[in-house]
Amino acid sequence: MITRILFVCLGNICRSPAAEAVLIHKIRAKGISDSFVVDSAGTGGWHVGSQADQRMRDAAKRRGVEIISKARQITIEDLNDFDLILTMDTDNYEVVKSMSMETDTLTSAVIKPFLTYAQNTRLTEVPDPYYGGEEGFDQVLDLLEDACDGLLVDL
Ligand code: 4NP
Repeated sequence: MITRILFVCLGNICRSPAAEAVLIHKIRAKGISDSFVVDSAGTGGWHVGSQADQRMRDAAKRRGVEIISKARQITIEDLNDFDLILTMDTDNYEVVKSMSMETDTLTSAVIKPFLTYAQNTRLTEVPDPYYGGEEGFDQVLDLLEDACDGLLVDL
């Protein structure tokens, strides 16, 4: 069985492409890549086609994680093409939930805040690092690694 996972943030240039890359890195290391489709998208469309933010790519690379995805905006089709849609913050969650409620047809994806899977933090949202300093990107990666580990235990 293949589990299809879509990570969602606002711009799809910081948090969700990093989550995608961290999960891909972990499933490769475990030799279970064939059981997953992993992707990411943004609720906003400003950065469509762009590579992930250089600061996020550099912070990930220091951990041996390569972020190669290009930004795209979430579509209604994603709500059926993926099994699990994991959102980074409350705004993203609300946007994806309302997309699923506004369509005429029933959608199949389960939509959840990603940090529900994290075991070593009390945060419920992955902070947006875009306007902050370098350390914000490392904090994001720590949270994403924690939640990816929890997700892989849960699946
Ligand atoms: P992300 O971060 O949602 O983690 O990709 C952001 C990237 C860009 C912007 C906001 C958040 N922006 O306003 O352009």
